[in-house]
Amino acid sequence: MKITVVGAGNVGATCADVLAYREIANEIVLLDIKEGVAEGKALDIWQKAPIDSYDSRTVGSTNDYTKTAKSDVVVITSGIPRKPGMSRDDLISTNAGIVKSVTEQVVANSPNAVIIIVSNPLDVMTYVAHSVSKLSRNKVIGMAGILDTARYRAFLAEALNVSPKDIQAMLLGGHGDTMVPLPRYTTVGGIPVTELIEKDKLDAIVNRTINGGGELVKLMGTSAWYAPGSAAAQMVEAIVKDQKRVVPVCMSLEGEYGIKDCYLGVPVVLGKNGVEKIIELKLDDAERQLLETSRQKVKEVMDAYDKMK
Ligand code: NAI
Ligand code: 2OP
Repeated sequence: MKITVVGAGNVGATCADVLAYREIANEIVLLDIKEGVAEGKALDIWQKAPIDSYDSRTVGSTNDYTKTAKSDVVVITSGIPRKPGMSRDDLISTNAGIVKSVTEQVVANSPNAVIIIVSNPLDVMTYVAHSVSKLSRNKVIGMAGILDTARYRAFLAEALNVSPKDIQAMLLGGHGDTMVPLPRYTTVGGIPVTELIEKDKLDAIVNRTINGGGELVKLMGTSAWYAPGSAAAQMVEAIVKDQKRVVPVCMSLEGEYGIKDCYLGVPVVLGKNGVEKIIELKLDDAERQLLETSRQKVKEVMDAYDKMK
């Protein structure tokens, strides 16, 4: 299996490192536009192999897409991250240009790859990449929901003093202030979370999750990379090992949840063909309303991109 990660910055390099360390693929190509950076980071990851005992081969490339040819999965992390005071949507004009040109080159060299978008604003960058790629919607998908649910699970684990491994959660909607964590679909070792925590504490955790990216930007002056890099690697693993994982993924909706012409996070089955099935949860009125608000917000940014084109 061959995986390419485009963008050798914080998220891309972390993702490549996790892919190598966990031997998710035997060949990993890290590509960046900045001269030598991808080669350097790939070499560093390869030199860690004897210490950490893995044999995945990681190589770097400065913008030479022939090295990425025939990749099975490509992760696109190229673009600028947020600085304090910026929203994810502020990144749109710069990152749309980058994601468009990267996707064209990725598809030209790896026409059969499943493409995972990480660049922000995530839902709209998935729209950009999917439109440019001309591939089917199950093969051009965005990573955000695994990260957002991971944050939610980590906060819950801390509050309940239990292992994060035992917390299962689902989330819908856009990657931003309108994301929709779903307490009704959250369990702790099979027990509904609402049985274990008071409503006000759960509401505070949901709120912290929604602002989870911003909390880290404020602390570090740039956005997160450890959890995002691992989350993207988990999606790659589900695809290359055909695991049929049930995870939230951003993709084009064509009538599911009553939504059309919009890119939003929904629960899916992820396997060798990318998204193999979209799971439609039964929502109550409040959840449906939150999802509609999220749809409107993402659509506004999609429309802003369309006007910019
Ligand atoms: P970074 O600045 O550390 O790395 C970005 C890399 O992209 C840089 O090395 C840059 O040289 C490279 N790049 C720029 N234009 C390129 C091009 N045309 N071709 C190839 N490489 C190019 O940024 P970081 O922290 O890695 O974040 C990357 C993106 O991921 C940002 O847009 C950020 O907002 C987003 N992000 C998304 C998350 C999500 O949940 N979807 C989570 C965290 C970050
Ligand atoms: C995050 O949620 C900035 O989207 C990035 O950390």
